[in-house]
Amino acid sequence: MNLFITFEGIDGSGKTTQLKLLHDYLLKRGMPVVVAREPGGTAIGESIRQILLHSGTKELKPLSELLLYYASRYQNFCQNILPALERGQWVLCDRYADASAAYQGYGRGVDLNFIERLNQVVIGQRMPDLTLLIDLDPSLALARARERNQRRAVDEGRFEKESLEFFERVRQGYLNLARQDPQRFRIVSGNLSIEGAHQEILRLLPLQ
Ligand code: ADP
Ligand code: TYD
Repeated sequence: MNLFITFEGIDGSGKTTQLKLLHDYLLKRGMPVVVAREPGGTAIGESIRQILLHSGTKELKPLSELLLYYASRYQNFCQNILPALERGQWVLCDRYADASAAYQGYGRGVDLNFIERLNQVVIGQRMPDLTLLIDLDPSLALARARERNQRRAVDEGRFEKESLEFFERVRQGYLNLARQDPQRFRIVSGNLSIEGAHQEILRLLPLQ
C-alpha cells in the first residue's frame, strides 16, 4: 500500500536531507513516489512561501501567519497530495499540519483547538500515515540551519530571527504532539549521522 509520510522537526534538524535520501531509496526500488513541501509546492503556495519566509516580512500577526500556511496547505493538498495518493503513489512531504500546531500553536500561542478544527476542514479526509519527527537540540539545529542558509541564494531567513526559547517551545510542542498520537509519530534522533538516521528511518518503514 502507498503511504503518505511527513517529515517534521525544528529548522535545521535534518528533515530535507532525510526526505531526499528516502526519496532516492524508494525510486531505486522502482516505487512510485512524489515529494512535496510546505509552505509551497504549488504556484500559489510558492508565492505564499515568499511572504512567510522572507526576512523583510514584518508585523505579520500570528493568526494571519497561520491562515497563510493553511492557504498554502490546502492548495498543496488539492493539487498535489490527494491526486498522488489516489493514483497509488507514495507521498513524502517536508512539513505538514503538525508544523502549524508546533510553530503557530506551541510557539506563538495560537489556540490549539482552533488549529485542530482547521485540520478537520482542510485536510480531514487524509491525515499522514506516518510522521517522522527528527528531534534535535535547538542550538545545534539552528547553527546548522544558519550555516546552510548562508549558502543559499534565496532569502528565507525570517524564522532565524526567533529566539532559542521560541524553538525550545516548538521542540516541546512537537514532542507533545508525538506523545498524543504514538500510532502515527516516530521520533528519530537528529544527533545521528546522516547515514545513521537514514538507516533508522528505513527500519521504521513497513518495507519488505
Ligand atoms: P531541515 O530541512 O530540517 O531544516 P536540512 O536537511 O536542510 O534540515 O539540514 C540542515 C543542514 O544540516 C544542512 O546543511 C545539512 O547538510 C546538515 N545536516 C543534515 N543532517 C545532518 C546530520 N545528521 N549531521 C550533521 N549535519 C546534518
Ligand atoms: P522550511 O523551509 O521547512 O524550513 P527549514 O528547512 O529551515 O526547516 O520551513 C519554513 C519555515 O516555516 C520554518 O521555519 C517553519 C515554518 N513553518 C511554520 O511556522 N508553520 C507551518 O505550518 C509550516 C509548514 C512551516
